[in-house]
Amino acid sequence: MEPGYDQAVERVRAARRDDSQAVLEGVHALKHALRFGAQVSLVITPSRDRLAALLTDLAPDVALPATTIEVDEAGWVAVTGGSAPPSPSVALAARPDVDAAHVLDTSGRVVVLEGPRHAGNLGAAIRVAAAADAGGVLVVGGIDPWHSACLRGAAGLHFALPVARVEALGRIRRPMVAFDPGGTPLRAGAVADDALLAFGSERHGLTPALLERADQTLAIPMRAGVSSLNLATAVAVALYAT
Ligand SMILES: C[S@@+](CC[C@H](N)C(=O)[O-])C[C@H]1O[C@@H](n2cnc3c(N)ncnc32)[C@H](O)[C@@H]1O
Repeated sequence: MEPGYDQAVERVRAARRDDSQAVLEGVHALKHALRFGAQVSLVITPSRDRLAALLTDLAPDVALPATTIEVDEAGWVAVTGGSAPPSPSVALAARPDVDAAHVLDTSGRVVVLEGPRHAGNLGAAIRVAAAADAGGVLVVGGIDPWHSACLRGAAGLHFALPVARVEALGRIRRPMVAFDPGGTPLRAGAVADDALLAFGSERHGLTPALLERADQTLAIPMRAGVSSLNLATAVAVALYAT
């Protein structure tokens, strides 16, 4: 156990309540955050050797930050709140200073997620948006995309593209395509390169207000009897198949 242990545990607790901080649980989130330029201010691990070996194995391009602190079992329980990530790392990083206008100004397709409720789904949607090289992700209402559970679902890929949340979608200056099972069947080339791609909440889908604002509504064809795809799966199909 190293000096500064108590303060480190307290810093993680405080960061969980701080909108300017991201709490990165697990090695994949740490790896991607470091790779995509996050300012990682602290890493806590129950085993520096195991964490260093994992990083060497998974991400030889990424070095373990000097601000890494090793804690004992009690410290690890305090840091993780009894729900430890599968790999031995919890880290803190500053959230990038990104707002909705910034996301909407990026080039490339922007994924708009209206009212998402499930952190794992939202994380998976951000992960696939990063993988598909989308311009950004804008969350309208719903949960905080920077919550640690969401960062975990996204494997820390929030740092690979701009991600922001707003309460309501203001004025937009780009074409918007709504994805809804009731739309017209999608086909390759149906979506402009600068379009906003809008997806609804897990339970209720897109609101009538957003559907009305969209320039077109596309459906991903499904076998009869299937009502919808999982949100992140729909985002993946929309980004890769159009
Ligand atoms: C789990 S679904 C929502 C299901 C909701 N009960 C509904 O009726 O729309 C979450 C979102 O994924 C997208 N989605 C799911 N399946 C889709 C499909 N077959 N075609 C187009 N979008 C789909 C939509 O944006 C939808 O709002």
